[in-house]
Amino acid sequence: MNIQKQIVSLKAKLGPSLCILAHHYQADDVVIHADIVGDSLELARQIPELAAEHIVFCGVHFMAETAAILAGANQHVYAPDVSAGCVMANMAPAPLLETILNRLQSGGKQVIPLTYVNSSAAVKAVCGRFGGSVCTSANAAVMLRWALDQGDAVLFLPDANLGQNTATAVGLGASAIKILNIRGGGQYVQALEPDHRLLLWPGVCAVHAKIHAEHIQKIRNRHPQGTILVHPECDPQVVALADGAGSTSYLINKVQQAATGRTMHIGTEANLVHRLQRQHPDKTICSLHPIWCSNMAKTTAEKLLDTLTHLQIQSVVRVGESIAASARLALERMLAVCS
Ligand code: 13P
Ligand code: SF4
Repeated sequence: MNIQKQIVSLKAKLGPSLCILAHHYQADDVVIHADIVGDSLELARQIPELAAEHIVFCGVHFMAETAAILAGANQHVYAPDVSAGCVMANMAPAPLLETILNRLQSGGKQVIPLTYVNSSAAVKAVCGRFGGSVCTSANAAVMLRWALDQGDAVLFLPDANLGQNTATAVGLGASAIKILNIRGGGQYVQALEPDHRLLLWPGVCAVHAKIHAEHIQKIRNRHPQGTILVHPECDPQVVALADGAGSTSYLINKVQQAATGRTMHIGTEANLVHRLQRQHPDKTICSLHPIWCSNMAKTTAEKLLDTLTHLQIQSVVRVGESIAASARLALERMLAVCS
């Protein structure tokens, strides 16, 4: 029996005790087995609703960790490849975040941390303890407005591009924004200055950073009638030149809503763009610039089969309760604000 048939047969055997979740950047031969496919927000929202004992998460580590934090005590979350990390999430270590928050608050002002969901459980836990929360690319503007109302300023991490793009969307001017110098263990960070309302952690998605303004200018010259849409992890210059920016679900919805015959250039992970091409043969869907996330690619049909075959201890994703409790608080604030 080939791999695909074996997965189908194991799924049938496990029945409702199993739920497979997949992010939109997963390859087709994984996505076809998913019970739920979504963007980071949609997948996080589903977790508290699931009854399945075994939740297999096809994505990257921070997504499976988020699922483990939100899952019930009798549920187990598995990742087919536990080494599938996220380069941007790795740019924000939790102890450094805590040091920097303490330095910013040393003048008595309250700085609320707002972490992009692409961050470790330990970072989410610090956000929970400092009165902050979590956002995804789908709700970043709502959550930034919420966080600005909670204190004197917001520390947004780890993605400086998403932070800047969201600041533009909510109308924060350049003089209210500062990119932090996090070098030297946070020694260059001073107490919050009165003008600053948004502090940006200097992290970036190495995959979306490969898309440049010149790619857009080239496409505009060649296809002036085409629509250009990008993910908000792209550089603010890229976002400013595009016709729209949003989460993976936003990009999918825009393609679905477009009229037959339309040409659209999408600036995000190629697995999603290629799937959209296949699903919409009546439209011309192109990669603005082809990019692949090597971590997303670590989850393969073979590894999914292996996980389902053994449902074994080494692929269980666990978060210790001391971190999970504070991280849950941060995530639940997001789910409450965006219910
Ligand atoms: P979405 O939340 O838009 O699905 O994006 C997640 C991600 O990691 C993009 O690089
Ligand atoms: Fe992380 Fe970028 Fe991959 Fe998304 S595309 S999972 S932000 S490395």
